[in-house]
Amino acid sequence: MITLDYSNSDAMIVGEDNGLHLQEEFENYKDTITHIIADLNKRKDKPGQWLQWMNLGYNEETLWYVKEYAAMVQGRFDNILVLGIGGSALGGIAVTEALLKPYWNLLSEEQRNGFPKIFFLDNIDPDTITGLLDILDLKRTLVNVITKSGSTAETMSQFMIVKNILEQELGADYRYNVVATTDKKTGILRQIAEQEGYKAFVVPDDVGGRFSVFSAVGLLPFALVGIDIDEITNGIKDMDLALKNTDIRENIAAQNALIHYLLDTKKGKNISVMMPYSSRLKYVADWYAQLWAESLGKNKDKNGNDVNIGPTPVKALGATDQHSQIQLYNEGPNNKIINFIRVGEFDNTLEIPPIFEYTGIGYLGGKTVNQLINAEADSTKVALSDYNRPNVTINMPKVNGYYIGQLLYMFEVQTAIAGELYNINTFDQPGVEQAKNYTYALMGRAGYEESAQALKEKMASV
Ligand code: PA5
Repeated sequence: MITLDYSNSDAMIVGEDNGLHLQEEFENYKDTITHIIADLNKRKDKPGQWLQWMNLGYNEETLWYVKEYAAMVQGRFDNILVLGIGGSALGGIAVTEALLKPYWNLLSEEQRNGFPKIFFLDNIDPDTITGLLDILDLKRTLVNVITKSGSTAETMSQFMIVKNILEQELGADYRYNVVATTDKKTGILRQIAEQEGYKAFVVPDDVGGRFSVFSAVGLLPFALVGIDIDEITNGIKDMDLALKNTDIRENIAAQNALIHYLLDTKKGKNISVMMPYSSRLKYVADWYAQLWAESLGKNKDKNGNDVNIGPTPVKALGATDQHSQIQLYNEGPNNKIINFIRVGEFDNTLEIPPIFEYTGIGYLGGKTVNQLINAEADSTKVALSDYNRPNVTINMPKVNGYYIGQLLYMFEVQTAIAGELYNINTFDQPGVEQAKNYTYALMGRAGYEESAQALKEKMASV
């Protein structure tokens, strides 16, 4: 299993001002945590609680349909093009980057075992979109358009552009090159899918975008490029079982949630840095940043009080960012908690040849890059602790589907528990909706005329 080492966030290591008396705090919060975990598990099946993501590891039906479709289209496409943004893209990017062979799109078809290349368009930069469309043969591309609401302007504008080209190239048959993932009943994409005859998968009810990676939102693209989705699901299930334990001493999601919450509210550490020591996990930090920020950054608590709270997530990558951010983390404001992810065993062992013995780099010869990256992870956490900077280490035995399932699910539960500790609604995002609505107004969407007028006045007065 994935484990959590929290010793470097204890006051014994990083001092009274910056650390916690963890055993005492675990005792103080024992009942609160027991109640939170029991309550989440009790509410998870109830409609309107937005906790259906806790059941995704057990969704045999989705697994079956996804695998059936992936098998049916295998060999028909050279590329998968995923259109989506935010929660509809970040999980897909994080998991494919972690689990596919590095530089996947540059490998030959044989090296990819006959599976297609995969591209994500999660922004609306006209140059990037044009650049990608210039190199993709859309006739040989399966377009997976993903939007829960079915109306997100970024995703739907990309889709409108792609659909037009596809239709010009393939006529009415273009619809076999499109697969939609969206709400079961509502939304514009659902309506279009039915009208145009697209194959469609469902973003289940009560699963928010940032908690949707293990629904068809993620599982479909994963299966299309040959990732073993059963292995991922096994990881989720084992972690779910472990995290059902209501005893904080046994529950790593509860421990990390409480450590983050207390370091923020008692010690002023309101920045959470996510720093995996593995390039393959680089985009897990992006996914975590959205999960943590959008879930916990709120202006009201559950009782309607103004709180304006939320820890700020920061993405980093070890060892790369040792040469970029660590100077700040060691010597700048002591307002952060650093999360390291340390990988036990890499797929490859890369030896450094014993050359240049006559120089100052001779000591590297005969060692492995594996030893080097983990030595850097270990030294960085010790150095941070020397500077009294609290940090935790998540130990991941290997980067594979099983542990990715565990890792991401652990962060989801950690986020839900943290939301309860902050006493906020973890699952809404009114601050995102506001900007989305203004965009609709600016772009002339019907029904948004009043906002458009108000917006124009505001913009004119700036
Ligand atoms: O987590 C969320 O809810 C958001 O990040 C959404 O995923 C994002 O705004 C995209 O929304 P949609 O899937 O409706 O296009």
